Amino acid sequence: MMLARDEEILGDVIFTAAEIRRRVRELGRRITRDYQANEVQLVTVLKGGVFFLADLARAIRCPVSLDFLAISSYAGGSQSGEVRLTKDLDESIVGRHVLIVEDVVDTGLTLGYIRRVLEQRRPASLRICILFDRPYRRLVDLPIDYVGFELPDLFVVGYGLDYRQRYRNLPEVRAVKPEALALPER
Ligand code: PRP
Repeated sequence: MMLARDEEILGDVIFTAAEIRRRVRELGRRITRDYQANEVQLVTVLKGGVFFLADLARAIRCPVSLDFLAISSYAGGSQSGEVRLTKDLDESIVGRHVLIVEDVVDTGLTLGYIRRVLEQRRPASLRICILFDRPYRRLVDLPIDYVGFELPDLFVVGYGLDYRQRYRNLPEVRAVKPEALALPER
């Protein structure tokens, strides 16, 4: 149910829940094929990635284990490329097949940093799987192994993506109305 307030904010559906479900299953099948019977260590960055992670993990048929990272950008925002870990992984990744799972990549600075940090820990392999990509916003080169969808150049919410921490739980992805971006916080 949409509240009056939501109608001021939420615009067109960009990807339906069914489209996302189909694409996540396809990615799961490809990952299952590529990793064969190897155990995959799925690493996700809080918070947005957890929705994709939960569905992707259930679409993968090899053994998986899960671990989480949290990061924060220094003053100046992620544009400066200054990122630090606020929560490290619980487990060692030495000799393991690590797949970083993220909801969205824009500049690539966040994942670029995380990839460098994890690479130094000598995993057996390190790959990246993202659901949404904005390649036209990239500032640094980033090898991405699995991509779900390319996002249009709009502010979007749902399936992990937020507007002021809300709407992550929408099962579909929707545009935020441009006029809503100027609304004061309530
Ligand atoms: C999003 C996303 C990535 C980052 C990508 O996180 O989950 O971590 O932005 O942007 P970049 O490629 O420009 O570095 P966000 O900061 O929105 O935090 P959240 O996951 O808690 O929503």
